[in-house]
Amino acid sequence: MTEILPIDQPTNNFWHTTQGPLMMLAPMEDVTDTAFRELILRKSAPGQLHMLFTEFTSTDGLCHPVGREKVSYRLKVSDSERTLLRQKGVKIIAQIWGNKPEKFAEAVRHISESYTFDGIDINMGCPVKNVVAHGSCSALIDQEPLANEIIAASKEATALPLSVKTRLGLKKVDTERWMSFLLKQPLDAIILHGRIQKQMSEGLADWQEIAKAVQLRDQLAPGIKIIGNGDVDSLAEAHEKSGKYGVDGTMIGRGIFKNPWLFQPELKEITLEERLETLNLHLDLFEQCWSDTRHFPILRRFFKIYLSDFQGAADFRHQMMQLNTFEESRQTIEQWTRRLLFHHH
Ligand SMILES: Cc1cc2nc3c(=O)[nH]c(=O)nc-3n(C[C@H](O)[C@H](O)[C@H](O)COP(=O)(O)O)c2cc1C
Repeated sequence: MTEILPIDQPTNNFWHTTQGPLMMLAPMEDVTDTAFRELILRKSAPGQLHMLFTEFTSTDGLCHPVGREKVSYRLKVSDSERTLLRQKGVKIIAQIWGNKPEKFAEAVRHISESYTFDGIDINMGCPVKNVVAHGSCSALIDQEPLANEIIAASKEATALPLSVKTRLGLKKVDTERWMSFLLKQPLDAIILHGRIQKQMSEGLADWQEIAKAVQLRDQLAPGIKIIGNGDVDSLAEAHEKSGKYGVDGTMIGRGIFKNPWLFQPELKEITLEERLETLNLHLDLFEQCWSDTRHFPILRRFFKIYLSDFQGAADFRHQMMQLNTFEESRQTIEQWTRRLLFHHH
């Protein structure tokens, strides 16, 4: 039996045509750049990962000649990432933020015309003080008229699928009011992080509230997908949560720091060789993509991912954290590799 889609949902819109539950890696600033996304793509098994997101990119920046130059690295998709996206059928979505509808319109038009993204996502969830003070991101949760204008302006500027990533509320849990509003908007999907702004990343994500959003969706806008987000560490857990709370998919953020092989669930044991190879791969991809245009210490937060769960990992990591160049890092890795693999066998 073929599924009948409401007429306002084009059949080439991946939010509605991809077989769910939809699994995706969260947008994370200074983490999900094209180099890391390529690494995740390489380490994912076919069909396990459906969508990736860019780091959040300022609409003010994109609308300013100097600013555009400054922020556009966030929208970079390398040729090798692009090839893998195509091969694996994974979608890539540009995430943007700001507080002025006219800038959203211009930025969305620019992204649609000058880049090759599968969708646009509006950040209405970032809790960081300075962006909230600026009236952007999660501040929009308490500004329905402005949020409405921003979504309308974005929708008008593109034919690409449009989603919003947000939280349960600003200062208090406000799921019913905020979701009832969002569910009246021309959106393909709402990605809901089960926390409020005030919590930052404290406490636990409230998946009961996410389930409440799903119920509201069922009543108000059955065509809009709801994706749950918060504290999911494995693909098995993501599938379990999708079933238990009725969401159309699950987005995983920090879980990837514990296990970048997360989208390859059949891989049960990560060998030392695989860890070292993946660390080297990350250095190579980062250098190819950015050379010296991105701050080297950004890489340090990744070292812990690869350098853990084996004897000597702490010392190795400690040494790596002091380094500032690709060359020093490769030398150190080589020395440790010789030492570790010799002991290992
Ligand atoms: C280092 C870091 C950077 C983040 N950057 C973004 C961002 O650019 N855009 C966004 O919507 N959320 C961002 N987030 C929030 C995540 O996308 C996600 O909503 C949050 O971490 C909760 O999911 P998790 O418990 O699976 O990590 C960031 C989170 C972290 C830890």
